[in-house]
Amino acid sequence: MSGIQSVLQETRVFNPSAEVQQAAAISGMASYKALCAQADADYSGFWGNLAREKLLWHKPFTEVLDESNAPFYRWFADGQLNASYNCLDANLINGNGDKTAIVFEADDGSVTNVSFRQLHERVCKLANGLKAQGIKKGDRVLIYIPMSVEGVVAMQACARIGATHSVVFGGFSAKSVQERVIDAGAVAIITADEQVRGGKTLPIKAIVDEAISMGGCEALKTVIVYRRTGNPINMQAGRDIWLHEVEGPQSAQCEPEWVDAEHPLFILYTSGSTGKPKGVQHSTGGYLLWAKTTMQWTFDAKPNDLFWCTADIGWITGHTYVCYGPTAAGITQLVFEGVPTYPNAGRFWQMIEKHKVTLFYTAPTAIRSLIKASETDPNVHPNKSDLSSLRILGSVGEPINPEAWMWYHKHVGGERCPIVDTFWQTETGGHMITPLPGATPLVPGSCTLPLPGIMAAIVDETGNDLPNGQGGVLVVKRPWPSMIRTIWGDPERFKKSYYPAELGGKLYLAGDGAIRDKDTGYFTIMGRIDDVLNVSGHRMGTMEIESALVAKSDLVAEAAVVGRPDDLTGEAIVAFVVLKRPRPTGDEARALAKELRDWVAKEIGPIAKPKDIRFGDNLPKTRSGKIMRRLLRAIAKGEAITQDVSTLENPAILEQLAENN
Ligand code: WT7
Repeated sequence: MSGIQSVLQETRVFNPSAEVQQAAAISGMASYKALCAQADADYSGFWGNLAREKLLWHKPFTEVLDESNAPFYRWFADGQLNASYNCLDANLINGNGDKTAIVFEADDGSVTNVSFRQLHERVCKLANGLKAQGIKKGDRVLIYIPMSVEGVVAMQACARIGATHSVVFGGFSAKSVQERVIDAGAVAIITADEQVRGGKTLPIKAIVDEAISMGGCEALKTVIVYRRTGNPINMQAGRDIWLHEVEGPQSAQCEPEWVDAEHPLFILYTSGSTGKPKGVQHSTGGYLLWAKTTMQWTFDAKPNDLFWCTADIGWITGHTYVCYGPTAAGITQLVFEGVPTYPNAGRFWQMIEKHKVTLFYTAPTAIRSLIKASETDPNVHPNKSDLSSLRILGSVGEPINPEAWMWYHKHVGGERCPIVDTFWQTETGGHMITPLPGATPLVPGSCTLPLPGIMAAIVDETGNDLPNGQGGVLVVKRPWPSMIRTIWGDPERFKKSYYPAELGGKLYLAGDGAIRDKDTGYFTIMGRIDDVLNVSGHRMGTMEIESALVAKSDLVAEAAVVGRPDDLTGEAIVAFVVLKRPRPTGDEARALAKELRDWVAKEIGPIAKPKDIRFGDNLPKTRSGKIMRRLLRAIAKGEAITQDVSTLENPAILEQLAENN
């Protein structure tokens, strides 16, 4: 039975226990429905009240939503605030100064606690230091740094001075860094000497050097380097400076730069179906509002909670649920430098026990790999750790299959903790469709219902509503505060990608297929409808990988990339490649496949490496020259071709590609 079928036939329902329900901020379905009804009745009143209640405004807004230049929606536009003020100063004002903001556990297990007051000091010092380096409001700063307190400090310091940050995940290549520096016009990079993961030391500053040496980074003036390991690295005089030297002489007080609510807090690059990655631009006011609100609604975060989101700050999950959400909500959080499998695959469970984590948020791919590990080594099974501190579990990034859901529920949650399966995207800024732990009856594999104020729906290809029980295209009918504002430097692409004319131009197109249950109206996500793959919860564009492959122009003539379902990573990347030499077989094919995999890792990053590479004399094409991807998808899965192939120019090629070479 395929994954989606088993989800659709799921009949198990898990109601929140009376205890969980009573304690929750949104308690019971009636409270959820009441909030939805408020949003329905008075949309701008609903959001305006939330924004006034949740955030500290330097200058109050007078208009909630400006739709005059749709789809370039503006929220709270004449209000002014500062994100770092709301995440840090707000906690000092509230008497949380001595409360721990971050419990940092390094790869080697050593632990550092940072209070809100200390975090505020660090951020102010760096903010002053950035200004001393000539960095100012509106400048773009690229952050390419391992998981660390310094990473959070760097993001918050940018926010404090009104510089727009763009964090690039440490697993991306020099070429990816260079492309993002150029696209964003970044004036500075904040990085580290090295990164430490799984007991190994890996370069990071050297990758920055390589990126800059590729050229084109004209606006870039400064590289600020956090000394993580202290091993010798190249420091270029006049350009590179140590983070501690930037912070060192500075005052621990820094008046925040008050910015308009629409001021771009950050740009985060993500893959699309065509072309280069897009710089998703987020606002300050609307984004922060939803980061804080969803911490309180979806995770029911309370003052005594210890929250742990395992995502890297290089992804949107690490932006919203590491850097901004927990701090804005005044919640203590665990930040982890390392990997779930070092020194053994019980690390997550051991850390939950050690720190008494109450709210745990991770990805299905991690859960599936830890299930597998605990099957072969009982010592790393969650039942070897005391997980009784846990209160609520979360899942994010890809559909969670019911088997993994049940294991998570039973072995991690002790059949006691609600699981919030949160559907959202880089573009949505925060959660969109998710259960509420004290309200929503859970069905494994379903992300259940939209949050209050989120007008999610399912429509056909022309934008008409579809009835429950009929699969279609997932859209959002009304703008919401934390939504993407534009694609950096490419407003036309923003419009085309997210508000396509085919759907009438007024519906936000998520890019996923989905279906609602006939009886409950629950949403189940059926996967992307575009050429975007989801590998271990990370988005990869098939075109991007194809471009990387054909960029090896001495070897590759043509390439087509598709996804194949994978038990561990959700989807796996399969590349069909035509070489500029006779089709290789045996050892030669294996050697060339390795060479191409390594090439893609260098071009994009190791996460983009194809799992499987098949060589062919050519690719299946229609007579008009279009590659027939549906056939390639079937071949990648190992399925027999039952489709009509009469329009194919070269049907014999199918057999050749199906051979495992
Ligand atoms: C895509 C967005 C959300 C932050 C991390 C990924 C898929 C995400 C779920 C979920 C089913 C999910 C969708 C979406 N996705 N969460 N709970 N159930 N699918 O952000 O890299 O922007 O990817 O991830 O396909 O469109 P992203």
